[in-house]
Amino acid sequence: MRVRVWRRRAVRLALPVVAAAVVWSPVAAAGPPAAGLPVVPGDDGQPTQPFIVGGSDTSTDEHPWMVALTDAAASPYCGGALVGPDRVVTAAHCVANRDQAELTVIAGRTDMRTSEGVETGVRQVWVHPGFDGDPMGGDDVAVLTLEREPGYRTLPLNEDPSAYQPGTPATVLGWGYTDESGPSSPVLQEVDVPLQSDSDCSGTYSQYDASEMVCAGDPEGERDACYGDSGGPLVVDGRLIGVTSWGTGCARPGLPGVYVRISSYADDLQAQLS
Ligand code: ARG
Repeated sequence: MRVRVWRRRAVRLALPVVAAAVVWSPVAAAGPPAAGLPVVPGDDGQPTQPFIVGGSDTSTDEHPWMVALTDAAASPYCGGALVGPDRVVTAAHCVANRDQAELTVIAGRTDMRTSEGVETGVRQVWVHPGFDGDPMGGDDVAVLTLEREPGYRTLPLNEDPSAYQPGTPATVLGWGYTDESGPSSPVLQEVDVPLQSDSDCSGTYSQYDASEMVCAGDPEGERDACYGDSGGPLVVDGRLIGVTSWGTGCARPGLPGVYVRISSYADDLQAQLS
């Protein structure tokens, strides 16, 4: 079964907002997560399911290059990675057709309910010229030039095409949905997902293009990125090897997440970093 990401989102946006004592208002618009879906708080006021899907709490102290993209409503809807003092790599679908004036990048904020860290506007947006508006069409990568340098450590790009051996453990991070039907996590999440072989992935997804994408996921399901994690980094050995791009549902058995294969874009991206 193949479901278009955009259509799934439309469905999700129609979900009724459930009342809850603590309303953590996540992700709006272009991103996936429906606006206003609350986290159901536990007794301690913390979300009861603090996962990306199947992940665990982490922090921007551990991952200083991890950033969130927010829109006019100040809700994080995508992730990104600081790859230069004032440059962020994210997914093209996170920024194409969005008003640049409304984009804000937040660095150094583990918990989106706080005002920690640094917020900056975006001075320039470069979207890969091959991006056609659909993440499944490929070239789903963009570089943002920030109005000011957040001052956090950067994540180097992986330029090595041989870094994509199937089975390699990779870490994906984000504030996105903790389950296919939400909600988002206010606290940064991380989960390890093994890289999948190109043959398996092209067997799963007809749109999979091994020259520009890579699949990662737990074959049993359970661990995955989800809506709102797009644009965020997939990391191996302290390098950016992928950008969260698309998938069918989240953490479904046999349906891995699809990421932008960074080594294929090393030249394009380096040109945007200087
Ligand atoms: N397109 C989604 C986003 O905008 C990311 C989906 C990733 N899905 C997955 N199952 N890994 O946030």
